[in-house]
Amino acid sequence: MEIIRVPKIMLDTSKTFLLHGKTIGFVPTMGALHDGHLSLVRRAREENSITVVSIFVNPAQFGPNEDFNIYPRDLEGDTEKLIKEKVDILFLPDASSIYPEGYLTYVNVENLSEKLCGAFRHGHFRGVTTIVAKLFNIVKPTRAYFGQKDFQQSVIISKMTYDLNMDIDIVVCPTVRDKDGLAMSSRNSYLDNSQRQAATIIYKCLKETSESIKSGIIEIKNVKNFMLDFLRKEPLISEIDYAGIYDISSLEELSAEKENMLLAIALRIGNTRLIDNMLINIKEERKY
Ligand code: PAF
Repeated sequence: MEIIRVPKIMLDTSKTFLLHGKTIGFVPTMGALHDGHLSLVRRAREENSITVVSIFVNPAQFGPNEDFNIYPRDLEGDTEKLIKEKVDILFLPDASSIYPEGYLTYVNVENLSEKLCGAFRHGHFRGVTTIVAKLFNIVKPTRAYFGQKDFQQSVIISKMTYDLNMDIDIVVCPTVRDKDGLAMSSRNSYLDNSQRQAATIIYKCLKETSESIKSGIIEIKNVKNFMLDFLRKEPLISEIDYAGIYDISSLEELSAEKENMLLAIALRIGNTRLIDNMLINIKEERKY
């Protein structure tokens, strides 16, 4: 695996690959890699001739009181994992090459970036779309891979690529879960044992709600309260940012049934903010 740190070298390398008719599969990450990331890497390898992974803990997507400084970093472990996965290139820029002094340009997908997590993490998605747009310009991927766990992020990035005429396929891959259902996340490492146990309520809530909708036990207009009542049973949850059912494109809260719907949750256990979601397709899955 080649490690490239300089954006211009990454760009020239990608241009050469493309000139030779290769396809580039790209997995942007912030490191602390787990099986969720590795599932994206495997998919990228299957579908492309070259696989590029980036690791960059992007300061622009963290608020002033968020966890940028303590965000888990494990470059040595990550490098080993990526070598094992036979990744071709690890792109590892430093902050000064991405945001040099005098940097002024940001990309923002309006409206969608203010919904759900955006209402609680002001400027977060502007930071995400800015770095992803920059990485896309540097890596020039044919396809880019994102996890469904960050569903809102994938909707926003798909919209950005569409609106800005970027010729890149956005591939959204299924959430990878621990055996007890907790969605894999680099932030799970912040949880102590009892908090880790408490966090399993998130997936239980999504599953129970989804099954209750499919079997007609609850109406869409009652879903939010059903989920909040369910989650409030767990005393270690310190705050619920949101829980409810949403349109999969506009991310608006739903009060009536649609064929495809998104159940989504964001909450805090102690200081750790966790998110998860589940898609429901009524036509495919209705049990009665
Ligand atoms: O999902 C992430 O890890 C980050 O938001 C991303 C897409 C790598 C941008 O920094």
